[in-house]
Amino acid sequence: MTERVLRILGIPGSLRRESYNRGLLLAAQELAPPGVELELYEVRELPLYDEDLERTGPPDQVLHFKQAIARADALLIATPEYNWSVPGPLKNAIDWASRPPATSPLRRKPVALMGASTGISGTIRAQLALRQIFASTESYVLPKPDLFVREAATLFRDGRLVDRETRERIRQLLEALVAWTLRFRD
Ligand SMILES: Cc1cc2nc3c(=O)[nH]c(=O)nc-3n(C[C@H](O)[C@H](O)[C@H](O)COP(=O)(O)O)c2cc1C
Repeated sequence: MTERVLRILGIPGSLRRESYNRGLLLAAQELAPPGVELELYEVRELPLYDEDLERTGPPDQVLHFKQAIARADALLIATPEYNWSVPGPLKNAIDWASRPPATSPLRRKPVALMGASTGISGTIRAQLALRQIFASTESYVLPKPDLFVREAATLFRDGRLVDRETRERIRQLLEALVAWTLRFRD
């Protein structure tokens, strides 16, 4: 399908050990088409964004995170929704990666979004908020398909996503992300 391996960095927006959103990304790893590598990145170790810290030289964890984004051909974000918006740890990670804007690895980076919530809204509001944030960072967010996973607790068994329809929709999202990413490749 592709000439060289296409690298996708999967970022869970939840720090929770049994996170359904991390579960979506683990399913995506299983469903990735040939020629696609999906690596997960945990944002837990990133310090809180502080412009003073940035001025004196960002901590190693920040440099490591930015390098991982730069190396990736695309990002796949699985976000929960906290109080109708993006969870703090994920927003914090994006803020670090967005600096300085002129050299941010988020610029022109293809991104796909998905998200799971235990309620019925399936992270619609959090994903809309993420689209606004990624407009600011000049990232290229895949317009469709949407993947809003509702009532997530009913779709997992022993930490694994078992719902066939959701798995199929993740597969379709990956397929669309690969095509989207190839459009921007030099
Ligand atoms: C602080 C907080 C706020 C939340 N707010 C929302 C919300 O606005 N909408 C929603 O659908 N679920 C909300 N939830 C429930 C999450 O959907 C649920 O905790 C989900 O499992 C989190 O994702 P995770 O399993 O990946 O950790 C909230 C949970 C927490 C802890």
